Amino acid sequence: MKVERYERYFLIVVAVFLGLAIGALVATVTQDHASLPEPSDRVDPQLVRSTPPFDAPGVRELDNGEYEVVIVAQAWQWDPVEVTLPVGATANLRVTSVDVVHGMRVPDTNVNAMVIPGQVTEVTVTFDEAKDYSLICHEYCGIGHHNMGGVFHIVDEESAP
Ligand code: CUA
Repeated sequence: MKVERYERYFLIVVAVFLGLAIGALVATVTQDHASLPEPSDRVDPQLVRSTPPFDAPGVRELDNGEYEVVIVAQAWQWDPVEVTLPVGATANLRVTSVDVVHGMRVPDTNVNAMVIPGQVTEVTVTFDEAKDYSLICHEYCGIGHHNMGGVFHIVDEESAP
């Protein structure tokens, strides 16, 4: 088989980039411990409203000074819609859905996750600034999807609840 010179160069370039891409993938998994998100827990979507902690959505302060924020996603509203936390708070969000797949995104933070019926999504986030962070649904979940928003009020320590 005859391979033209430029064709050979092209194949070499492709092989090098392919090798770099695979190398980067291996490095992120082994060095940075990148992993696919996994559900932290499971819950029967029919029984969400009667299963702790989802029977009482809201904020709980933990012993270590962090916060647990339990949120239920339901078309087309977050429950609770508003959460108030002190600035600098580290919050462990525990979220599930009672109906369809939703998406949870809080711009300016690392929060960007799927919310899937039957699964508990957990994300830990630290709110560094005293401002309102919006909580948006970024997975099309029906006719009211664009209205499915919430807010994290991050306030100075003095005015914290
Ligand atoms: Cu919930 Cu889109």
